[in-house]
Amino acid sequence: MKVLVSLYIPQLGIDMLKAHSELDVTVWDKDRLMTHEELLSQAKDYDILLTSSNYVINEEFVQKCPSIKMISTFSVGYDNVNIPLLNKHNIPFGNAPGAMTDATADVAFGLMIAVCRKMFYMYNMIPNDNWNILMPRANLGQEPKGKTLGIFGMGKIGMEMASRCKGAYGMDIYYHNRNRNPEAEKELDAKYVSFDELLKVSDIISAHCALTPETKGIFNKEAFQKMKSSAIFINTARGGVHNETDLIDALNSQEIWGAGLDVTNPEPMKADNPLLFMENVCVLPHIGSATVKARDEMARLAALNIIQFANGEEITNRVLK
Ligand code: DGY
Repeated sequence: MKVLVSLYIPQLGIDMLKAHSELDVTVWDKDRLMTHEELLSQAKDYDILLTSSNYVINEEFVQKCPSIKMISTFSVGYDNVNIPLLNKHNIPFGNAPGAMTDATADVAFGLMIAVCRKMFYMYNMIPNDNWNILMPRANLGQEPKGKTLGIFGMGKIGMEMASRCKGAYGMDIYYHNRNRNPEAEKELDAKYVSFDELLKVSDIISAHCALTPETKGIFNKEAFQKMKSSAIFINTARGGVHNETDLIDALNSQEIWGAGLDVTNPEPMKADNPLLFMENVCVLPHIGSATVKARDEMARLAALNIIQFANGEEITNRVLK
């Protein structure tokens, strides 16, 4: 079976695939990402595709690449993939859950501290030759100790963010989720509340949900208006979870205090986006999973999906809906 690895994943994953005698593996090893058009024109000659959250897998893809029998993604998120369509065409799809739990929670935690202390804005004062030594009343930040953390989406990454905040700062944890999370309630004393209540009580709200029709744009004008004026919004999940224009307005009108984003809407963010120049905002270019450990594990899981398929085994991380 011919496998197209459409991005240059860590060697561990490539070696796993190449060690399988049934698989004829081609790797896109250029130092730039394949364009969507290149993906469509190349994948049409393959049986299996290893893709990522960069590419939309939709009707057009299925029509233009009819030989594809299985898809594996080098990501945990799959909001870019039409799963019901793949099910209809009997194309199994597997992802890489759990690979970047700690790595992404670290970014959320780091952004929280960076926003509290205006770190990115203050850093920029140095290259701009604006280092003002000890201006007693200028650029004052917040201290996270003892604050209330609201987790929107208490899955694995939400739990890790909450446990960091509880351990480091003794924060009180509130959460909102599709379902109750008994482990979070037991281990972190996390309190389950409605979305509105979460907005009301939290000093820091961190989004860790999947992007679904229910969560798309849920952090909008109305939501920001319900938050404390001292609140900080952190998003390391998907940019589509917040409405970026509403976020900019909420920050400008001081409805909320600050924001830390590892994901934007759209991605990449334009270089002149006003969020990049705000004192209480820190933006990163979607680096949640960018550690050696996380990327190796993503490569291993993405390769494993394909190997299980090639062996005729059940795909452990198959996504069904
Ligand atoms: C994921 O795996 O979903 C990360 O956000 C990278 O796309």
